Amino acid sequence: MASYEINGGNLLNGTVTISGAKNAAVAILPAALLVSGKCRIENVPDISDVRILLEILEGMGVKIYKPERHVVELDCTDLQYTEPDPTQVTQLRASYYLMGAQLGRFGKAHVALPGGCNFAARPIDQHIKGFLALGAEVDETDNYIAMEPGENGLHGNRVSLDMASVGATMNVMLAATLLPGQTIIENAAKEPHIVDLANFLNTMGARITGAGTDTIKIKGVNSLKGGCYAIIPDQIEAGTYMAAVTAVGGNVLVQNVIPKHMECITSKLEEMGAKIINYDDSIRIIRNGRLRKATVKTRPYPGFPTDMQAQVCVCMTIAGGVSRLTESVYETRFFGYCTELESMGANIQINGKTATVSGVERLYGATVCAHDLRAGAALVIAGLAAEGTTRVEDIHFVERGYEDLIDKFTALGAEISRIED
Ligand code: EPU
Repeated sequence: MASYEINGGNLLNGTVTISGAKNAAVAILPAALLVSGKCRIENVPDISDVRILLEILEGMGVKIYKPERHVVELDCTDLQYTEPDPTQVTQLRASYYLMGAQLGRFGKAHVALPGGCNFAARPIDQHIKGFLALGAEVDETDNYIAMEPGENGLHGNRVSLDMASVGATMNVMLAATLLPGQTIIENAAKEPHIVDLANFLNTMGARITGAGTDTIKIKGVNSLKGGCYAIIPDQIEAGTYMAAVTAVGGNVLVQNVIPKHMECITSKLEEMGAKIINYDDSIRIIRNGRLRKATVKTRPYPGFPTDMQAQVCVCMTIAGGVSRLTESVYETRFFGYCTELESMGANIQINGKTATVSGVERLYGATVCAHDLRAGAALVIAGLAAEGTTRVEDIHFVERGYEDLIDKFTALGAEISRIED
């Protein structure tokens, strides 16, 4: 078990470069299973979720080369059907994309149920609803999902999701790309990584339109050829560094971002007192005055992301006045970090979906535990803003999704180190 040790209080100044988007990478890498050829994927983040996924794909017979740290070449030309290693599959959430990708490529799938961050109940009934609509016969046990073509075979169809699920939208796209006929996903999720997956598949020869709106149309094609594709920058990693500057103070240029993807976050941080200047592919964030209270409600994109809930909550803990933070995607997400923040001096009352955060003068260093990825990132921000020394334990959660976190914060002037227990 490793921890971060943070001596708080240093302002953050300088430049930070954002890595490729985790939640795009973990869908695009399995999508390579659909490609009967070689694909070169650039701007792949070097994080533990991606490393596990690449090991799973290699175990499934994919030939993988890494010519550079952020470039992965995958060759699925003569791929034979192989079940992914169940032990590895249960290590991450995004392994559910292997279901759609296997069904799409081989017409059948047998994949262990996913693991990953367990900050809430995370059912996959909408993924299964999609697979059933595409003609699959689905056998679900406590540990596995097994799929085969049903009586009428696999075919395009209309899939109306009960909620705009990111995972279900992408899984249906993966399963439908190579099926005969047209698939229409209604009430589709609109997050930037949905568009990125569609762009990747289209670059490889798919016919997908409407990604980024709530109706996505997929005209099935016979095969996908190889090609080259670069993953978008990580909206949430960028937002995390911006929240850190907002909480701690300083002046940082956040580069390799798509400012449009950041609008829902920048407007709230501005409301709290940060000054933000947008450039073509970078954002300067400056915070030197007192933080102001805010009201934030998380929503699917283009709303304020649930994956930024914990980081903005840290800003609220030291803002003047009483802030309100409402979660509308995962109700139980507060429990991953609010108690930890309280042990650092924060004043947070949780009532159902809403946390009422009464700003305090300052946070104080403490030993706290990361219970999931974003909760861990928030505790790092809290440690950077706090007076004294903070130890964040269980940082393997943070390393799932943040590349070079220590180096990036150190370059901005923070005092943070990794302790191997
Ligand atoms: N839901 C269902 N049934 C389903 C699918 C979802 O009830 O079949 C519910 C969920 O319980 C939740 C809501 O629908 O209340 C939205 O879930 P969604 O399917 O959109 O989330 P996900 O695909 O499991 C992805 C990200 C999460 C991010 C959410 C929301 C990946 C691998 N994970 O999860 O990312 O919080 O979308 O944007 O892409 C993270 O990066 O820290 C993270 C948790």
